[in-house]
Amino acid sequence: MKNQSAVFYRDINSAPSLIVRGAGVYLEDATGRRYLDGNASAGVVGIGHGRTEITQAIAEAGEKITFVYGGTFTHPWQEDLAKAILGIAPHNMEAVYFVSGGSEANESALKLARQYFVECGKSQKYKVIARWQSFHGVTLATLSLSGRTSWRSLYSPYLLQVKHIFPPYEYRCPLCVGKGGCSLACADDLERAILLEGPETVAAFFAEPIGGTSATGIVPHPDYYARVREICDRCDVLFVADEVLCGYGRCGRPFAIQHWNVEPDIMTLGKGIGSGYAPLGAMVVSEKVLEPFRKGSGRFVHGFTYSGMPMSCFVGLKVFEIMEREGLFERAAVVGRTLFEKLQSLAQRHRVIGEIRGKGLLVGIEFVTNQETREPFMKESGFAARVAAAMRQRGVIVGIGIPLANFGKDGDHIQISPPFIISERDIDTIVNTLDESLAEVTASIRKEDQI
Ligand SMILES: Cc1ncc(COP(=O)(O)O)c(C=O)c1O
Repeated sequence: MKNQSAVFYRDINSAPSLIVRGAGVYLEDATGRRYLDGNASAGVVGIGHGRTEITQAIAEAGEKITFVYGGTFTHPWQEDLAKAILGIAPHNMEAVYFVSGGSEANESALKLARQYFVECGKSQKYKVIARWQSFHGVTLATLSLSGRTSWRSLYSPYLLQVKHIFPPYEYRCPLCVGKGGCSLACADDLERAILLEGPETVAAFFAEPIGGTSATGIVPHPDYYARVREICDRCDVLFVADEVLCGYGRCGRPFAIQHWNVEPDIMTLGKGIGSGYAPLGAMVVSEKVLEPFRKGSGRFVHGFTYSGMPMSCFVGLKVFEIMEREGLFERAAVVGRTLFEKLQSLAQRHRVIGEIRGKGLLVGIEFVTNQETREPFMKESGFAARVAAAMRQRGVIVGIGIPLANFGKDGDHIQISPPFIISERDIDTIVNTLDESLAEVTASIRKEDQI
């Protein structure tokens, strides 16, 4: 056997750094190098790394129950966590279905929406609509929902026929050019799609209330979701809010959709709900959706072996307790404002910053070669990847966004989404590191004559 790792890494030709410790917002590798986790490890670790309070409690909990199968039994941790989540969810929500992550949550929601209409006696309703530049997961059904072209193309022969509409991406919106701002034409695009498909065939509309990994920090117009809700109600289509990344305190409220005061029919959760201490996701279901099941078959034809896994639910409860005790469902609103203001001041000096957007601690920064014309960097320049690499060199990790301009071919953005516990000093570290890294990368790009 060759003297190399036996792990199938995402990048087969280069092993990632070997992390041996994590505490708070920091990770440490085997050589003793520390990294500030500026994207909370893909938006997961809301409460921060290394909370021994949780890991020690897991050992005690394991003396009581390790596993029960959800098709046969329930257990107190699942019961208590479901109640806790409903306590912070929109008022119309009535029950929680636990799974192991975000893709499973969205896959479950897709199937629930379909069965809902069958229970309602409308079995011709099965089609689904989502948005371009969205991300809902990597399973074939959830990749079909996702409007991330670069991840879809390889698997397109297997994908479901999901219709995609315009995202509410005002910075590069072809629908509101020359209209002095958002005209809600992107929301009306939902109605157009439903009418073209035939409302009697459409079951659900999926959307991330605030853009996540595909188009980080895209915050729709204040009236966008009221319009979406009204269209869905009128056309008898379920509205599924994917809160996997933007929910659970990340945007400064328990759920991002609460910024719009709109009640979805189903919400999907992942990432922060387990905060990286256990694989956990959930589908939160409204009374309206449950009702026909109660009166009908009484059974959702679905279920993963690990749905409601005791250890994951136990961890979910501990995470919830910490989030409540430390005010972390709201803290991102305050800290995010500080981060935002500091980033805004960078935009004065760095002409490559096109837009800084987001809410709470979900911030996207889009780069351009010209602030006035919003000309993107060409794909070949790899600008965002170079900025992220320069920041990493200085010990700060940020996420790299996908191209958003020229039909998903060019353009760059990065994602800053640290743990909710981040201190003001660490926010300064992120901003100062970005400042230095932008100066370095811009200078080298200038030498290459790209700006
Ligand atoms: C909005 C959103 N939905 C779904 C998913 C998929 O979640 P998971 O990777 O846990 O399956 C992600 C992951 O990044 C996400 O950001």
